[in-house]
Amino acid sequence: MLGPMSAPQREHWSRGLGFTLAAVGSAVGLGNMWRFSYMTAEHGGAAFVLLYVLMTLLLGLPVMLAELTVGRGAGKSPILALGHYGGRKWRPLGGLFVLTGFAILSYYSVIAGWTLRYTVSGVLGGFPEPSNAEALFGQIASGWDAVAWHLGFMVICTFVVARGVRAGIERASLLLMPVLGLMLLGLAVFAAVLPGSGAGYGYYFTGDLRGALDFDVVTDAAAQAFFSLSLGMGAILTYASYLSRQSDLPLEGARIALSDFGVALLAGLVVFPLIFALGLQHDVGESTLGALFITLPTAFNKLGAAGAIIGVIFMLALSVAALTSAISLLEVVTASLVDVWNWRRAPAAWLCGGAIALVGVPSALNLEVLDAMDSVGGQFLLVLGGALLAVFVGWVMKNPAAEAAGMHPRPALGAWVWLLRIVVPVILAVLAFYPGGLASQSFGKLWKLFTG
Ligand code: TRP
Repeated sequence: MLGPMSAPQREHWSRGLGFTLAAVGSAVGLGNMWRFSYMTAEHGGAAFVLLYVLMTLLLGLPVMLAELTVGRGAGKSPILALGHYGGRKWRPLGGLFVLTGFAILSYYSVIAGWTLRYTVSGVLGGFPEPSNAEALFGQIASGWDAVAWHLGFMVICTFVVARGVRAGIERASLLLMPVLGLMLLGLAVFAAVLPGSGAGYGYYFTGDLRGALDFDVVTDAAAQAFFSLSLGMGAILTYASYLSRQSDLPLEGARIALSDFGVALLAGLVVFPLIFALGLQHDVGESTLGALFITLPTAFNKLGAAGAIIGVIFMLALSVAALTSAISLLEVVTASLVDVWNWRRAPAAWLCGGAIALVGVPSALNLEVLDAMDSVGGQFLLVLGGALLAVFVGWVMKNPAAEAAGMHPRPALGAWVWLLRIVVPVILAVLAFYPGGLASQSFGKLWKLFTG
């Protein structure tokens, strides 16, 4: 019998694949397709890609395993999970995670709204003439239109989370992830056979590697690794809290990271060849947040009837990827309300989804707000959260290596603990707080926003 104080049985994934696909679904999102390509273009191609791989291996993988370990071990969402191992004084770090998730989803959903809007208008009327592309983006990206599509996206996302881990998140991931993979593969093949696409590969895989020595490029690469792997705010932690004891965490972590990297590469193999084949590379040179949403629709328009189909598939793939990622962000916030305050899932999801939707409205009205939110939430707070979690697992948890291993002991886990103790926090602290680092970049953007 359940007394008023005893929580109902915690939900679990129905099978191992459910967790893997949901976690990959979280990792693979706008970060891989929109953010990765725009960052690569902004930082001159290969140098950025190289640094990004390094950061993923050196910082991303250890923190990924840290999240998996805490989540599975505690079987709770972040606030209680950190309290479980560290006592009450560590709960605020869980609170920071929830706040970060809140901030990220509020603007993430705005961009996801753009992709939905491009999908629908692609179906209805194709893609804009080159001369109109920029004006159309301006219209779509901010204003009351953007607000409406942002709200629509939040409704879909909240609907899935309200249905729960198995019936909502797992089912959506099992259906959507294979569809996404197929769409991307098809697009990459299409881009490869376009005449003139070769230069795109050249741009992507070669370039001046000295760019990698620039501090800016290093900070962006590290932040991109965290964002793309969904690390630094407890999303992977929360998904791992629905895992059973038998799972092999290092293997799961490696699988998630590899799939995420694979999709980022694949997205680049769609975007760059396409842009070069159509001679649009100059637009990408000064790439910013909106560039892809201007350049790619132009490319789709130039390709005629085939372009309309390809464009719709591309935008649909983006929307799908965004949805499974947004679900994981909302799940962190929702699960906290469920675990900490014993709310029922459905009302918790709708309350959190509603609040996040409201907070996102300014980002939908003003691109500078969106950019500042991305800087603060999507870069600085993630790196900060990752550093603190590394310290927590490395120094506060009693025997992290044994907890990570579970039933699958591995000798390398001793080295992992030392990475978390020293290497990861030191590097992340430098990237965050060194002059010109992520803290000053993001607060600089906030400051500019408020002072005009
Ligand atoms: N990883 C997703 C992407 O690349 C975004 C995302 C989902 C995320 N959940 C997260 C980012 C948690 C940071 C933290 O689009």
